[in-house]
Amino acid sequence: MSLPAIDFSAFRNGTEQKRRELANCVTEEFKKHGATRLTNHGLTAETITKAYEWSEKFFKLSEAEKAAIANVRDANPQRGYSYVGSEATSKVNKRDQRGEFQICEDDDVDQELVDAKEHFDYTRDGDEYATPWPSDASIPGFHDWMEGTFLPECMTLARDVLTAIELGLDVPVGTFTSCMSSYVDELRIQHYPPLAVSKLAAGKIKRCHAHTDFGFLTLLFQDATGGLEVEDRVNGGWLPVVPTGDPTEVGVYVGDTLVHKTNGHLRAAVHHVVAPVSLKNREDGVMPERFTIALFAKADRHAVVGPMPKFVTSETPQRFPSLTALELHNKRVGQLYDARPKEIGALEGGPGEGEGLEG
Ligand SMILES: [Fe+2]
Repeated sequence: MSLPAIDFSAFRNGTEQKRRELANCVTEEFKKHGATRLTNHGLTAETITKAYEWSEKFFKLSEAEKAAIANVRDANPQRGYSYVGSEATSKVNKRDQRGEFQICEDDDVDQELVDAKEHFDYTRDGDEYATPWPSDASIPGFHDWMEGTFLPECMTLARDVLTAIELGLDVPVGTFTSCMSSYVDELRIQHYPPLAVSKLAAGKIKRCHAHTDFGFLTLLFQDATGGLEVEDRVNGGWLPVVPTGDPTEVGVYVGDTLVHKTNGHLRAAVHHVVAPVSLKNREDGVMPERFTIALFAKADRHAVVGPMPKFVTSETPQRFPSLTALELHNKRVGQLYDARPKEIGALEGGPGEGEGLEG
């Protein structure tokens, strides 16, 4: 049992009826676990393979070269290089009394949990939060291709998927995509160094602790190593997202912004990265290094991402405050680094901040 891989080709080439059928199929999968996988979505194997090649070259840069472009750990969009252990995904979500993962609103989480990964975050040139790129002398061609070619292709796919969700939810086309016109999506390349399985035993270190992502949705390309799991909301436990071997396969994960917009009608995918299936429950062995590439599709910073009227009814009252996308995003990034912005006003007449995300 794993996430299905849905052929997405009809979304660009099919009849209107086929597009709608596909949109409904994709949206139904999101309702199950907040996640699905797509193939035949427009990005070629050649393009994705090239992105991995650039990624491997980047992480082989010297420590000094990476340190020179380090991300500033504050409550602002992440840009540049983050060293192993810098980000603490365990601090952004926790289980509520019903066992569901919610946005964490306090400091009552284990402060010692470590994510064993390094990453580099960037956005398009000209963004108000500029990316510190490595010099072209260090890695010639990296900036040009990753920013000029790969990022736009990923942005296009993310908007196609969001259009499919608009159709699947029966809201006007453009409901989500019309508030993405400033293209502030972020792309992240991630490297998980080799890790002895024995290091996982104490429960403090994972490749990535359970969390939800912050944007509208995340596209995730993973190499053949495995280890990613998504919370199984149908049967309980976790669903291993075992790589199919198709290099174009991309995971799509619902993020917090879409949860807020739909007033919890869609729930975010809870995911973590653990030992691959072949090394699970073993006390020895070494997990091989792992590379992934994520596109975080984001709403315009000043767009209000509070619940849409369609999803606020007497049975489903408004559950989230009407924050801007930037307020929501920075609140979440601040949690990663214990650099939280001041409390952003609680929802008037609705649930308080402490009640967080729900079902
Ligand atoms: Fe994530």
